[in-house]
Amino acid sequence: MNKSLSALRIDNERLRADFETLAAIGATPDGGVHRPALSDAHLDARRWFVERAKQIGLDARVDGAGNHSAVLRCGRAGGLTLLLGSHLDSVPYGGSFDGALGVVAALEVLQIVKEQGISLNTHLEAIDFTDEEGNLVSVLGSLAFSGQLEPEHLQNPRGGRGRFQGALRHAGLSESSLFSAGRDPATVAGYLELHIEQGMGLIELGMDIGIVTSIVGIRSFRVRFIGRADHAGTMPMHKRLDAAQGASAFTLAVRELVMQGFPGCVVNVGNMEFEPGAFNVVPQIVTVALQFRADDDDKLDEMETALLKQASVDAQRFGLDWETELLDNVGPARMNENVREAFANASEMLGLKHTSLPSGAGHDAQSLAQICPTGMISVPSVGGFSHSSKEYTEWQDCVNGANVLLHATLMLAR
Ligand code: GLV
Ligand code: MN
Ligand code: MN
Repeated sequence: MNKSLSALRIDNERLRADFETLAAIGATPDGGVHRPALSDAHLDARRWFVERAKQIGLDARVDGAGNHSAVLRCGRAGGLTLLLGSHLDSVPYGGSFDGALGVVAALEVLQIVKEQGISLNTHLEAIDFTDEEGNLVSVLGSLAFSGQLEPEHLQNPRGGRGRFQGALRHAGLSESSLFSAGRDPATVAGYLELHIEQGMGLIELGMDIGIVTSIVGIRSFRVRFIGRADHAGTMPMHKRLDAAQGASAFTLAVRELVMQGFPGCVVNVGNMEFEPGAFNVVPQIVTVALQFRADDDDKLDEMETALLKQASVDAQRFGLDWETELLDNVGPARMNENVREAFANASEMLGLKHTSLPSGAGHDAQSLAQICPTGMISVPSVGGFSHSSKEYTEWQDCVNGANVLLHATLMLAR
């Protein structure tokens, strides 16, 4: 890289102003954000993205899956496009860094390249993918973009079909429009994503930058325990078919099962819905939101078998029926060696300490890795907190990450 380009840095104040503007959209009183995909707050954040792209002089575009892009034509006519991005949706009552940092950093990189008039071999596109967090369908936008979306993905959205269709309508989308978002892989040079680490690895190792080696695979199921509604005062305890007992026993058992049988893997019961759900009625149905993660598909298969067998054991123990539905199955992905090398070289050039590590969090990069050279970097999360308003990354670490993104982009696109 020539000397003047290697001295280039992102504009700290401008990046911070963008980050803070976004953090105020859907802000919660405890310093987090509540921007579930396609909610009003999320759509407001996306309107901000379009306005900001236009202000910078970029081409703003929205595809049939609602993915928002800002394009800088700086390559040859007909040349490939290098994508940089992340997501503007959040988990319910989440933090302000997850996803948003990657989007503002992507916009900033395009702005620097534009104002410096740097000519590249590829065009650049900053992209904000729809519903990374799975408010409706996990990594919906990037599945559609990468041509992997199948009708089955839409049959069992979180919250049900009615809520899903209503949310799409609210955002001006439809089930059929989702399928028009597929991008021809032959036009894509690669995908780069900056994200907070969401774990303790970098801080424990005293590192500035994490270069992601692989991203974990994730499966989500509804597990429903079905008993009988009864009067909570008059039905004798030994005669009840109490769905809460099966769901509770299952919740405790899966923790032990995974800790003992699947070291390095994780399981989570993130929600339980009780029906009819009253103080004075024995629960008839309890629906458990089950999610588990592992770094390879065989391990995910083994976990699935063991966890569903456990559901059957716990249902039987309390005289219950049970049923299950798969909601989503996002495969593990390895990151591209060339992209990893560019991130390592950019970190070295900037004098930043870097290490390679896997991601236990899911990302849109998982979808993109199926169609183009894909890589991610992470920056330290104080306390390892994420998916919570406690999520925090020191500003200097955000700036470091954005500078690595900038220089890796220049290395890969020139
Ligand atoms: C996404 O953030 C996930 O890992 O669930
Ligand atoms: Mn997240
Ligand atoms: Mn994220």
